Amino acid sequence: MEIQTINTTPFDDQRPGTSGLRKKVKVFQAPHYLANFVQSIFNALEGYQGKTLVVGGDGRYYNREALQIILKMAAANGFGKVMVGCGGILSTPAASCVIRKYKTFGGIILSASHNPGGPDDDFGIKYNTCNGGPAPEKITEAIYSQSREIAEYLTMEAADIDLDTIGMQQLGNMSVEIIDPVSDYADMMEQLFDFDAMRALLTSGTFTMRFDAMNAVTGPYAQEILEKRLGAAAGTVLRGEPLADFGGAHPDPNLVHAKELVASMSSNDAPDFGAASDGDGDRNMILGRDFYVTPSDSLAIIAANAAHVSGYAQGLAGVARSMPTSQAIDRVAAALGIDCYETPTGWKFFGNLLDAGKITLCGEESFGTGSNHVREKDGLWAVLFWLNILAVRKQPVADIVHEHWQQYGRDVYTRHDYEGIATEGANALMQQLRARTGELSGQSFGDYTVELADDFSYTDAVDNSVSSNQGIRILFDNGARIVYRLSGTGTEGATLRVYIEQPETNPDKLEQDPQVSLAELIRLSSTIAEIEKFTGRTAADVIT
Ligand code: G1P
Ligand code: ZN
Repeated sequence: MEIQTINTTPFDDQRPGTSGLRKKVKVFQAPHYLANFVQSIFNALEGYQGKTLVVGGDGRYYNREALQIILKMAAANGFGKVMVGCGGILSTPAASCVIRKYKTFGGIILSASHNPGGPDDDFGIKYNTCNGGPAPEKITEAIYSQSREIAEYLTMEAADIDLDTIGMQQLGNMSVEIIDPVSDYADMMEQLFDFDAMRALLTSGTFTMRFDAMNAVTGPYAQEILEKRLGAAAGTVLRGEPLADFGGAHPDPNLVHAKELVASMSSNDAPDFGAASDGDGDRNMILGRDFYVTPSDSLAIIAANAAHVSGYAQGLAGVARSMPTSQAIDRVAAALGIDCYETPTGWKFFGNLLDAGKITLCGEESFGTGSNHVREKDGLWAVLFWLNILAVRKQPVADIVHEHWQQYGRDVYTRHDYEGIATEGANALMQQLRARTGELSGQSFGDYTVELADDFSYTDAVDNSVSSNQGIRILFDNGARIVYRLSGTGTEGATLRVYIEQPETNPDKLEQDPQVSLAELIRLSSTIAEIEKFTGRTAADVIT
């Protein structure tokens, strides 16, 4: 088989965002587009000759075609072996697990996470390093600069690999191992959690759960773990078959996009526990009967209950949250006497803290929760953590959350997203806010006085690297916060995210609807930033 050198010219839009490169499928299908980016990844790396790469994706449209291109390029570039999930499938946390377990050089994950899939929707690709985590900014920037000067890429003329048969195949000098995408991950979960107690709960006849895989990648994982290994009733997993277009649905586990599951949790025969995961399996949503647990609260409750879970009972080294995530976890950390780190948005910023053993648990308000077991957020892991807590505490989800608020206080929280707005207006809004941070400090708006306003900058606690411009924070003297940032994962126009939070310790007000408790702050969030003037919008599109 002959190695081919293909001449090409750079594309100017291949800078990875919050989580890899995401574009419309049609963009990736353009001649050389994917190959340019893959070669840029390889060009930014050193020392991979003869080493092993893991490749898999969430099964979305173009997954298989992209895999064939990547396999031939990996062989032509001198990798020794590629491990591929059967059917081209590997959830993001499972890819991280496989990279770590087999100590591979790194991995390529094909996914646009929770973005819709299909010929007219989104595709994505990202590189993970040997720790199993998303490449740090240093590497993503190196990939970007390679993409700006690429002149050729290497590939190979060869027949396609059979992606659906487990076992070894050969591509030039490189071996390709098609692996079971589920078993390594499921084995790991069995090590972390008390499967006996969870099985006893699920087969007790008095407890039911429903897991919505949203026609995305977690279906096979949830079926194996919940239904096979833990004995949950058949049909516990809904929409369990990964579909290339996710059945036309938007695979984002939130109150808007998982509405059938949410509705079923309020019906007369509602299950005790409900959960969902996203396109590539790293996000999670946790529900009780007629009850929604915010991701920020979920992280705090997981940390507060870690002693009940065997894999974590030896104690937590520390915890971390992304800056816009609510401060609920900070309260738990203070009570436990452990460090709590505040990082910029995006999982890659947790990597160093996890590798250095400074934190055990971490999470983001965007339905991402995880631990040091892998280097990605992990949807099913969070669901199993909750199931383990429920199996030990034997209380309804809502009671566990209420007790948590009574003990620690509640950080009443909401996120308002303004989607698909004009990029110019969005940038202008951020710019004027940034310019006004100095003058905002000390200003009063009704009952709210600004203690500090800034553009969040983070210094990594391990390598001292600095990441600036990570979102405008307005911190009020009563502990309330408003945070503004632009999404780094969208593929159309801009999305403005506004995060609004206020601590509440008055027991009479703990149960109030956040949209009511936060009404004044929500109003302020739009007047302070002049959202209507810059975006033309009078209300958010998605409220979580
Ligand atoms: C969003 C979330 C962020 C998460 C990322 C990848 O990024 O806000 O927390 O890490 O997706 O799942 P954003 O679109 O806000 O840049
Ligand atoms: Zn995801």
